[in-house]
Amino acid sequence: MKIAMINGSPKAGKSNTAFLLNSLEALISSGNELTHYHIIKNPPSEEAFSQLCQMDALVLAFPLYIDAIPSHLFRLLVELEEHMKGHKNEIYVYAITNNGFYEGRQNHIAFEILKNWCQRSGLRFGQGLGHGAGEMLASNDKIPLGHGPLKNLGKGMNLLADNINSKSSGELMLVNPNFPRFAWQFAGTHFFWNAEAKKNGLKKRDILRRL
Ligand SMILES: Cc1cc2nc3c(=O)[nH]c(=O)nc-3n(C[C@H](O)[C@H](O)[C@H](O)COP(=O)(O)O)c2cc1C
Repeated sequence: MKIAMINGSPKAGKSNTAFLLNSLEALISSGNELTHYHIIKNPPSEEAFSQLCQMDALVLAFPLYIDAIPSHLFRLLVELEEHMKGHKNEIYVYAITNNGFYEGRQNHIAFEILKNWCQRSGLRFGQGLGHGAGEMLASNDKIPLGHGPLKNLGKGMNLLADNINSKSSGELMLVNPNFPRFAWQFAGTHFFWNAEAKKNGLKKRDILRRL
């Protein structure tokens, strides 16, 4: 099966989305032909659009932005919709999202948007996996999938991979990490968001300032 692995994070280097795509790749690479796309690194050409129309499945991976799809990915979907009109083969769409808040449920609106887009484009929505506490993923890349804080993620990834490998559909999965919420809140604030602010020349009070 020909599968497009589409990275929709605006980060060109290390990202939580890249971590999720790599984890899935290990489960679906055998017997399938995978082609990688990164919208920011290589904005899709006409040739890439026609390749996408020849795929058996599209795997869209992206971070949640304002409860929805990041704008550069949304623009791509609007353009792809035009190319998909009139394609002959049945293409399945699978999606993996991650978000900053603890609850994977935050991703439910983004999946509704994707399902509507599939309907408009004549594509079949296969399955979605949304994971909360995204910022802890890439920093836990030494922990094997299915263990410790990545236990729920591992279960979800296996189900998603099985459905991709058999080109079938499954229920939407919205999961939290296997890590206490209060601990994520503490670690996320002190070791991630405040550290990111400092790297960008901001103070803690700048994060809390209302516009
Ligand atoms: C502009 C912007 C909007 C965001 N909106 C949300 C949001 O609505 N809900 C949420 O839980 N996280 C939100 N986040 C957090 C990201 O989804 C989160 O940091 C994600 O792990 C980034 O993934 P990446 O490394 O793959 O780009 C937002 C981040 C940014 C920069």
